[in-house]
Amino acid sequence: MLYGLDQIRRHYRELLDDKPDDYFERFDPYILDKRPLVSGLVEKAFDRLFPEKVPNLLDVGCGTCFYFPLLAPHAEKLTGIDLCIPMLEQARELIEAKGLTNCVVEESSALELPFEDETFDVVHSWDFLHHVPDPQRAASEIARVLKPGGRYIAVEPNLLNISIAHYHARRRVEWGLYSKNQFSNRRTFGKHFDVSIRYDNTIISFLNERTWKLWKAIDGFTSFWPTKYLSFRYVMECRKSS
Ligand SMILES: C[S@@+](CC[C@H](N)C(=O)[O-])C[C@H]1O[C@@H](n2cnc3c(N)ncnc32)[C@H](O)[C@@H]1O
Repeated sequence: MLYGLDQIRRHYRELLDDKPDDYFERFDPYILDKRPLVSGLVEKAFDRLFPEKVPNLLDVGCGTCFYFPLLAPHAEKLTGIDLCIPMLEQARELIEAKGLTNCVVEESSALELPFEDETFDVVHSWDFLHHVPDPQRAASEIARVLKPGGRYIAVEPNLLNISIAHYHARRRVEWGLYSKNQFSNRRTFGKHFDVSIRYDNTIISFLNERTWKLWKAIDGFTSFWPTKYLSFRYVMECRKSS
C-alpha cells in the first residue's frame, strides 16, 4: 500500500527506471498501438462514457496517459495531472508524438488541485482512487473544481473479482484496494455527489490474442445479474447537483 505522496512518487519513478514486466503490461504509453484488442475495449468504454464531446475534461492521476489518444477526441480540452514527474515526461512525449494538440499535462496533487472552483465539465480517473492516500480530500477537491451538474467518472478494479483480488494481494503497493474500493468510495463520494456504480470488463494487462477467448467467456458470464458483480472493474459515476 502506498501511504504518502512521496512514497507514490518514489514507487512510480522506480517503475519507470526498472521497467519490470508490469510496466510493459500496464504503463507503456504506447500499449494501445501494440494491443489492438485492448485499444478496442478502451475505445468502446470511452464511447459509452462520453457520448457527447466534453468542453473541459480533467484526468486526475493520469500517469503516462496511455489512453489519451482515445480520450482526447471526446474533449475540446483535456488536462492531465499527476504527482510523478517521470510519468508526465512519458505522457508529454506521447502527446507530442500523437499530435494531441488539445491535451496538456501538469504536475500537481489531486489533494490540492491548482484550478479555480467550477472549472471542469467532467473529471475522469483510471486506476487512481485505490492509490490516493486521502480519498475524502480528493473527493472534496474534485467536487470543488467541477461545474454544477458536472460528472466525476472513476474506472477502478473490482475487489469482488477473484483474479483482481489475487493480483492486488500479491503486490504490496496495490493493497489500497482493500480499503479503497466500491463500498468505501460510494460512502466517501456520496457526501458530495449522487453516486451510481456499474460493472465492466475493460482490462489492460494480460489481454492479448492468446487470452482473448477466455476474456470473451468471462465477459459473457458476467453480463447478467448477479454475476456482473464479479466483473474485472467497476465504473463509479458521480454527479454534482446543478
Ligand atoms: C495506477 S497509476 C494509473 C495511471 C493512469 N491513470 C493509468 O491508468 O495508466 C496511479 C497514478 O496515480 C497517481 N497519483 C496517486 N496519488 C496521486 C495524487 N494524490 N495526486 C496526483 N496523482 C496521484 C500516481 O502518480 C500514478 O501515476
